[in-house]
Amino acid sequence: MHKDVEKILFTEEQIREAIKAVGAQITADYEGKNPLLVGILKGSVVFMADIMREIKTECSIDFMVAKSYGNEAVSSGNVRILKDLDTDIHGRDVLIIEDILDTARTLAAVKKYLLQKNPSSVKICTLLDKVTADKVSDLKADYKCFDVENQFVVGYGLDYAERYRNLSYIGILKREVYEK
Ligand code: IMP
Repeated sequence: MHKDVEKILFTEEQIREAIKAVGAQITADYEGKNPLLVGILKGSVVFMADIMREIKTECSIDFMVAKSYGNEAVSSGNVRILKDLDTDIHGRDVLIIEDILDTARTLAAVKKYLLQKNPSSVKICTLLDKVTADKVSDLKADYKCFDVENQFVVGYGLDYAERYRNLSYIGILKREVYEK
């Protein structure tokens, strides 16, 4: 275990199992469709690489970088798209792939932005959901692998100051790392 990690929450094995189950669910729900999986960079890259291989229906992938700002972010849809999609989503089924749903501010804004492009549907698949966090929106994940408490987690794509993304497990970061 990394010296900055307090405790492992989910092992590589547990993550693999959860992704398999969620992938099977998505495969069944999108049977005969051709969904576009949209990863939100950078946190989703590891999750994307694994979940896409558990989705057995035809699909393609794309990525976005988005930042929401201000308290108006959700109601007014204020979101700064730092990297937009390369794909035309008109009439497509879009499935957003996210690392963690915290306040839901970013995803609520991203979803609203994508809906303006007239896709057939927009759903959300998140690896983690901080269920006890203060949500700024009533947006819910359509698919998720794990619930977590309101604590700071790293690994499996999730970072603190761009570190720890390469850990193969998900762990709680020691407080002293971000409080020093
Ligand atoms: P939201 O808009 O508050 O839902 O923010 C979600 C984003 O914040 C995620 O995509 C992560 O990049 C980041 N984030 C929130 N909580 C954590 C955490 O515990 N560890 C690492 N990143 C986090």
